[in-house]
Amino acid sequence: MSASSPVRSVLPADILARKGGTPIVCLTAYTTPVARIVDAHCDIALVGDSVGMVLHGMPSTLGVTMEMMILHGRAVVRGCQKSMPVIDMPFGSYEECPAQAYRNAARLMAETGAPAVKLEGGAHMAETIAFLTKRGVPVMAHIGLTPQSVNTLGGYKVVGRDGEADSVMADAEAVQAAGAFSVVLEKVPEGLASRITQRLSIPTIGIGAGLRCDGQILVVDDMLGLFTEFRPKFVKRYGELGRAADEAIAAYAAEVRSRAFPAAEHAFADVLPTKGPKS
Ligand code: KIV
Repeated sequence: MSASSPVRSVLPADILARKGGTPIVCLTAYTTPVARIVDAHCDIALVGDSVGMVLHGMPSTLGVTMEMMILHGRAVVRGCQKSMPVIDMPFGSYEECPAQAYRNAARLMAETGAPAVKLEGGAHMAETIAFLTKRGVPVMAHIGLTPQSVNTLGGYKVVGRDGEADSVMADAEAVQAAGAFSVVLEKVPEGLASRITQRLSIPTIGIGAGLRCDGQILVVDDMLGLFTEFRPKFVKRYGELGRAADEAIAAYAAEVRSRAFPAAEHAFADVLPTKGPKS
């Protein structure tokens, strides 16, 4: 199945052109209603593989499949009119070789209508990023903490301290040279993120990487207070929707049990009320 790709008002080239300008506003989205709200305020709606943890209750992003990304990708693309949807490539869909990455990136784009993909990895993924970008697949790179490598990184730790700074800088330069149109810096110390932002000519999008990046991204359910299993230090809560939902559902349950709901206005009469004579 292929999705139609409308001409979008924000495309990878527009994001690239925002380097050093007004900060680029990004959030994740996984469903059409949330994508519509994100679309009204943001430049990029990322269909992150965080969907696995946030919506499907998975313990990590490793179990996320192409089918899940396509399903959520299509939902988000439907909700985006002016912002740019970007789809995460799930674990196992691109690491084997550039040809595998191309096959799956092309499928994500064709079946969702999104104009770009994101993949995790620095210098070791540069060959793949170059292969994709030369064949019409715009790539957002993702370096620093790369959650799909949690088992080799040894946890969700800050990346770029203790002598790691040079290798994170090298990753940033490698993904830029390979043709990425932007790069996510996750959990990178703010001084290093600032130096990377100054060094690169492509925009940096920070998540836990301080103020000096060219843009910022958060997981939407984190900042809305909907995902409450854990709260990384870099998350600022802009809403408490989880608490509001809990209160609303508790009120509903109490009213069902006490037979206060449904009230007369929520029920249907057996006979339609007759209209009175016209005066
Ligand atoms: O999967 C995701 O939501 C992400 C963002 C946190 C950058 O990769």
